[in-house]
Amino acid sequence: MSEFPRHQASLEALRKRGRYRALAPRAGHDFASNDYLGLASGDLLKAAAIEAIARGVPVGAGGSRLLRGNDSEHELLEREAAEFFGTEAALFMGGGFNANQAIFSSLPQQGDLVLHDALIHASAHDGMRLGRAENRSFAHNDVAEAAAQITAWRSVGGTGRVWIAVEAIYSMDGDIAPIAELAALAQAEDAVLVVDEAHATGLFGDQGRGLAHEIASRTNVISLHTCGKALGVSGALICGAEVLIETLINRARGFIFATAPSPLNAALVRAALKDLASNPARRAQAWERVDLAHAEAKRLCGLEGFSSQILPVIIGEDPLCMEVASALQGLGYDIRGVRPPTVPRGTARLRISVTGRLEHAVVTEMFENLARELEVLA
Ligand SMILES: Cc1ncc(COP(=O)(O)O)c(C=O)c1O
Repeated sequence: MSEFPRHQASLEALRKRGRYRALAPRAGHDFASNDYLGLASGDLLKAAAIEAIARGVPVGAGGSRLLRGNDSEHELLEREAAEFFGTEAALFMGGGFNANQAIFSSLPQQGDLVLHDALIHASAHDGMRLGRAENRSFAHNDVAEAAAQITAWRSVGGTGRVWIAVEAIYSMDGDIAPIAELAALAQAEDAVLVVDEAHATGLFGDQGRGLAHEIASRTNVISLHTCGKALGVSGALICGAEVLIETLINRARGFIFATAPSPLNAALVRAALKDLASNPARRAQAWERVDLAHAEAKRLCGLEGFSSQILPVIIGEDPLCMEVASALQGLGYDIRGVRPPTVPRGTARLRISVTGRLEHAVVTEMFENLARELEVLA
């Protein structure tokens, strides 16, 4: 009998519902990672690591940024990121999850409203839970509903600031937020627009600066650029007005009470940002593969309507989805099934992501195999 019967029972319950998760080794052609530009294990970052170590950049920070852990590499990265993403200031955090927690737990104040897209990432939810502001959701990508919610909130006495939280590209749906309309709503309502660019950074916007890059310099816009996806490293850059960045440094518990990210990581992110600015060919190659994937998904599987490098193929029931994923894995393709609670109930899906490193023939063959698997289900 287990020493932890309640934990055991809860794991059993997950198994019964087809929701048990286990770690699996990396295997097969990569249709699962967020390494969209192929930087994570490429030569550019290896060379940057060797160069940074040679010039004395420390591997470990040794403390919190507010104590001994602040390194010149963090500060250089933050200056360069603010310039590249077009904001007054930037703050480097250990990851996007921590960054979202920091933003939503410490920037919205008591009496404010956080109005978030229904599909916003778990990390934003956790941040809201820790914060003092009220929160409400609006239907996915529905700007008219967001506007109506603000009016409704004001009509029942809401007087504080509204913070509108969205993702630029939704991580499990791959669709695009209506940034221009959301920005107009934020202007009209004197609201702050928080755009999580996690899956847009590096691929979307001029030089890969994200979907909100044209409005990022506004003081009522915060953009979050995670560094573990297209940038190939880890960490996250919160970019926005100086006063908000200073507030995070003074109020965000996940920043204050945590060891600083590795200065070596900061050096690598600097190298990745320089590459974005100077090497459009890398982005073009990724887009060429993404366009091929869209075309083959339509030609071979009759699937269409995709807008980005993330192609969700909705299967429906959890066990069925995992069966299809495992069949494709057996054929040599690393494709993962994503189940509730990550996605809404009844919409378990294959989350196919396309990176610039995939060979053309592999993309085509994968969709041929997917077509066969989907035919069996039909
Ligand atoms: C939209 C979004 N925001 C934030 C995160 C968290 O970022 P990180 O992986 O850097 O912690 C993720 C990661 O899955 C994400 O998809």
